[in-house]
Amino acid sequence: MSESKMSEWKTVTVDLDGSVAVVTLNRPHKRNAMSPQLHIDMSDVLEKLRYDTASKVLVITGAGESFCAGMDLKEFFVELKDNPAEFDRIYRMATEWRYRTLRYYPKPTICMVNGYCFGGAFTVVEACDLAYVAKEATLGLSEINFKHYPGGSVSKSLANLLRPRDALFLAMTGRTFKGDRAAEIGFVNAAYPAADLRREVMAIAHEIAQKDPDALQACKEGYRFSLEMSAEASMNFTAAKSDQLTMRQKDSWRSEGIGDFLSGKYRPGLGGHEQAAKPSS
Ligand code: ACO
Repeated sequence: MSESKMSEWKTVTVDLDGSVAVVTLNRPHKRNAMSPQLHIDMSDVLEKLRYDTASKVLVITGAGESFCAGMDLKEFFVELKDNPAEFDRIYRMATEWRYRTLRYYPKPTICMVNGYCFGGAFTVVEACDLAYVAKEATLGLSEINFKHYPGGSVSKSLANLLRPRDALFLAMTGRTFKGDRAAEIGFVNAAYPAADLRREVMAIAHEIAQKDPDALQACKEGYRFSLEMSAEASMNFTAAKSDQLTMRQKDSWRSEGIGDFLSGKYRPGLGGHEQAAKPSS
């Protein structure tokens, strides 16, 4: 398995583990709070990895004991207070990569919440396709505790993912909760003991990385855009998307995917080619 590190950014590192890119928010001394520089770096990282042919799946996590302590309250809210143009530039960038770029990213994205997760970090978790958390991690919508509320794209992320009762309870009390609870309320797919988190998440990432990348992109886009469409529009869209997939793959879903099943090589109901190969008689 090939491993390599990209360290051209000040606040983010990228490690390639086979075809999985592990993107690490890297300000552990500030609990990986999202500073203006981190938004600049993450925007660039996502742009580079979008076209990087070596990586097929992204895992986003935090360095040290914290996943992300939300927005950098000092560098963003206080130090840019009297600089509205710069505040606006960073605000737009912060919203763009977390809410839009990640959500419609062409490659599968998995959030690995290894520790503290507060406020604006919820948008990263929500916009990723899948999310897993350490059982021991502490999460919270802390905004109300400093006399604010889940602004920016956080409110919309909550509305997208959580039940109204959970969203408003967490936003109005600012109470913390643990990884187990995050899984119970559907904020993440599952919680694992911290010691197992990386192994479990990387296994899922590698499993997904074996699938056809064009089919994965169609899978994401079919689902995500259908959320915003009427049933009629969605069915028209997915029919066109199937034609796009056929063109991108040069029809291999039919010739290899279905063809190999029909010639008895594997059982797609039980897995991909490797997992579900039929024993040769
Ligand atoms: N913004 C700026 N700096 C931060 C942030 C943040 N969100 N979170 C932590 N830091 C800094 C601290 O100021 C401190 O810096 P210093 O060493 O220069 O004094 C350093 O990170 C370590 O923080 P501690 O509080 O000492 O670490 P501890 O492990 O005891 O607590 C915790 C961690 C719980 C995350 C705490 O720092 C905290 O409550 N942070 C704020 C969380 C928050 O409310 N985030 C904003 C959400 S709202 C939004 O994102 C819009």
